[in-house]
Amino acid sequence: MTSPGAAPATSTVSSSDESATIHSLNGTPTPRHVLRISDLDDATWRHVIDSAVIYKKAGMASKPIATGKSLGLVFLNPSLRTRTSMELAAQRLGAHVTTLTPGQDAWTIAFGDGVVMDGAEAEHVRDAFGVLSRYVDALGVRVFASGTDRERDVADAMINEIAASATVPVVNLESARNHPCQALADAAVLSDHFDGKTAGKRFVLTWTHHPNALPMAVPNSALLAAARLGMDVIVARPDSHSLEADVMNEATDLAGAHGGSVSTSTNMDAAIDGADVVYAKAWGGPMRYTDPEREKAIRASLTDWRVTRKQMSTTRNGRFMHCLPVRRNVVVDDAVLDGPQAMHLDQAEYRLHAQQALLEYVFDC
Ligand code: CP
Repeated sequence: MTSPGAAPATSTVSSSDESATIHSLNGTPTPRHVLRISDLDDATWRHVIDSAVIYKKAGMASKPIATGKSLGLVFLNPSLRTRTSMELAAQRLGAHVTTLTPGQDAWTIAFGDGVVMDGAEAEHVRDAFGVLSRYVDALGVRVFASGTDRERDVADAMINEIAASATVPVVNLESARNHPCQALADAAVLSDHFDGKTAGKRFVLTWTHHPNALPMAVPNSALLAAARLGMDVIVARPDSHSLEADVMNEATDLAGAHGGSVSTSTNMDAAIDGADVVYAKAWGGPMRYTDPEREKAIRASLTDWRVTRKQMSTTRNGRFMHCLPVRRNVVVDDAVLDGPQAMHLDQAEYRLHAQQALLEYVFDC
């Protein structure tokens, strides 16, 4: 998937004797960016997941193979899990970490070609990430969807502009469309739970009510991860809250290639009945870009899209997943989150293990 403003087309490599810098078709060195899970080839994807499971089972031991390396983290949006787990994962590898939050302790960043910077933003993306690339060996960046500019959000324009501005690998810590670190942690927790036998398990990604029109990065990534694990994925959502067609098509192709399937349902109860996994996530419908008031009104009328203990009792002793943060008793009932089927804390822990494994790949160590 290449988006406008993306770095030149390239391919990823998994062999540790290859350089972390690989080359685009025109010969220009292109860093080993991880902007979406499709940036990892099958061998690397599997290696990161398997390594994460090994690290989880081995405990929190440090593995200082990246001593002398440095990681710059830039958060244009808030985070609890991603920031903490990324800092600690790098530290477990012996790397130095520096974290910036533009607008608080660093200059606010302007995006786009030819922008006249006479507004609030003090520094252009090209200069900010060009400079940071001179200081660190890799970058991790969080930049959420605008929520108002559909064309740029669908193109994942901001993370692609950042990657095109950097000369070191960029790890996407959640952009408009993708959250590959969450996808890797989710894949690892599923692989661990099913002892590697994820193919054919029924994975229900269910939309839920939420007071805000949230971005699509997590549902996209959960869908693609489950499809890549060969699961039988059902996307349960109201008609008003479809995912982008190209993501559904990509997931269908991925699932087909790995022995699984993708289907949709507008009936939450029926989709959850017999599920092995229920992954809850709220997202804003496409109408948020064209008629936000209407999207809000429809969303407000769908408060019964909330995962309950009764629904979970109809699963095949299924597990409940959520990326967190979660709105209790809006997205899912306390009884589910605090019950024996919940796996959301495992997901959060797996962020640390999966990102440790991912950083080994990114640092090429
Ligand atoms: N799941 C996740 O990315 O959490 P944070 O937003 O707290 O980083």
